[in-house]
Amino acid sequence: MKTRSHDVSPRNPLELLMNPQIANRTVITFGTFDVLHVGHTRILQRSAALGTRLVVGVSSDALNLRKKGRRPVYDQADRMEIISQLRFVDQVFLEESLELKGDYIQQFGADVLVMGDDWKGRFDEFQSLCEVVYLPRTEGISTTSLIEEIGERHDRQRLALVGHS
Ligand code: CTP
Repeated sequence: MKTRSHDVSPRNPLELLMNPQIANRTVITFGTFDVLHVGHTRILQRSAALGTRLVVGVSSDALNLRKKGRRPVYDQADRMEIISQLRFVDQVFLEESLELKGDYIQQFGADVLVMGDDWKGRFDEFQSLCEVVYLPRTEGISTTSLIEEIGERHDRQRLALVGHS
């Protein structure tokens, strides 16, 4: 039988009953979520566990270009569609500007803002609007390292083919 990890998540009604502090709380988080990997799914699942509704701001292609200096592999429509299909995500919207975080928090009625701890301290100003939580990143994986790894594998294969011709 397939193991269903959400059976052990705090979204489980029994755990919610035992922990009323997370009941009826909206959690908001942000990110590019390009080339989805386990670091992304883990932070989203842990974010969802802090409340009853998880809203995710997916960075637009233009914002990602400004923020990280490259166009995402998957465009914003695909990234939003992928994230919206995760069972612990309730709502997805397009994050168009880093300066609008406070507006998004208010617009979506967020009680908790979650960011990866690579941003630790940088969003404390929003403590006047909601609780701000920094969760540890999953070690050893990132979209950047995956893209590099795929490129290196491709180069090695091409070199091997050239060597055999
Ligand atoms: N994240 C995480 N663990 C990782 C990678 C990302 O917890 N190993 C979290 C980030 O802290 C952020 C969210 O996932 O809250 C989206 O991060 P994003 O920047 O889209 O992913 P990265 O893999 O860090 O992307 P890049 O390499 O392009 O910077």
